Amino acid sequence: MLYICIIYKVEEKYKYFVDQILTWHQHNGRHNLPWRKPNITPYEVWVSEVMLQQTQVNRVIPYYTNFLERFPTVKHLAEATWEEFLPYYQGLGYYNRGRNMLKTAQIVVNEFGGEFPTNKTALKKLPGIGEYTATAILSFGLQEPHLAFDTNHQRVWGRYLHGDKKAELDPLEIESNLPPNTDFKKLNAAIMDFANLVYTNRNPDIENSPLQPYCVFCQTGGRLESTSTSKKSDFPTSEAQTFLILHEQHKKYFSTQKRTYAPFILPAPLNTRARIQSYFEREHGLQLSVRPPYKKAYVDGVPTLFTRAQILLGEHEFSEFPKKEVTAWLKRWRTVQ
Ligand code: ADE
Repeated sequence: MLYICIIYKVEEKYKYFVDQILTWHQHNGRHNLPWRKPNITPYEVWVSEVMLQQTQVNRVIPYYTNFLERFPTVKHLAEATWEEFLPYYQGLGYYNRGRNMLKTAQIVVNEFGGEFPTNKTALKKLPGIGEYTATAILSFGLQEPHLAFDTNHQRVWGRYLHGDKKAELDPLEIESNLPPNTDFKKLNAAIMDFANLVYTNRNPDIENSPLQPYCVFCQTGGRLESTSTSKKSDFPTSEAQTFLILHEQHKKYFSTQKRTYAPFILPAPLNTRARIQSYFEREHGLQLSVRPPYKKAYVDGVPTLFTRAQILLGEHEFSEFPKKEVTAWLKRWRTVQ
């Protein structure tokens, strides 16, 4: 086999990447996404990032547009009650993130005069804002020089530098190797679009990659990337019963039992999120956020999905149990998948 050894300076590799990906983006980017408008505010960036953390781009677009029509500034959002907020968020899942949004909006208004802080440390103190969201707000909303290093960046840089989307990377090191005057706002958007349109997770289009000849992934034909060979599950999910662990903010847990904790036991076919939601709405007048099952096990021979849900709206009279008791009860069942 013939190996071609290319000798180059490190900076060249990074400059090539930036030049190529920005040119690619000019012609092929998703410029019509509503969070790509030119003068986007830090608040608007933050809303988009919270929504995009949990949901596909195409599903987020209508939520995002409606949300900003109803809550055009952080002041509008800070004044909203949970009940007012919920219809604009419902369906996006992960309600702790929703609750954090309201808390953050109130802090920004009460403690920062309605403007998001402009440094990373202060941003990261706000509920729900971590390293990634902070850098996204700074680069997209304030044109500051930060890589907003998310899973898209991980895949693209991992492949480009090491031929493997899972390669261990140091975002700050990458940042320090980029050419001076790099437009980070454009670069971040370009990498995100490239990851979704060319270097996709399962079906990367190497042949049309503008990143050759420096891209290790192209040079090695993708052979360095381990393909997961997950065995197909033979767990009979559609016939499974559900153990529903109903809670409020992971603090209070509820059961229909009075003395010892037991989850809600729902027979099949009450084993999908939609069916569980409509069952609780119909039988108990409650709106739930239902998570995907976190464990599958055979309980006394019966296939069982262990599923957490939290109450979003509505009153009930279920008995309440402390977390310790609930954890002890749940430990009795061994995970099979
Ligand atoms: N553009 C800005 N943020 C994004 C994200 N999190 N995912 C995809 N595109 C984005």
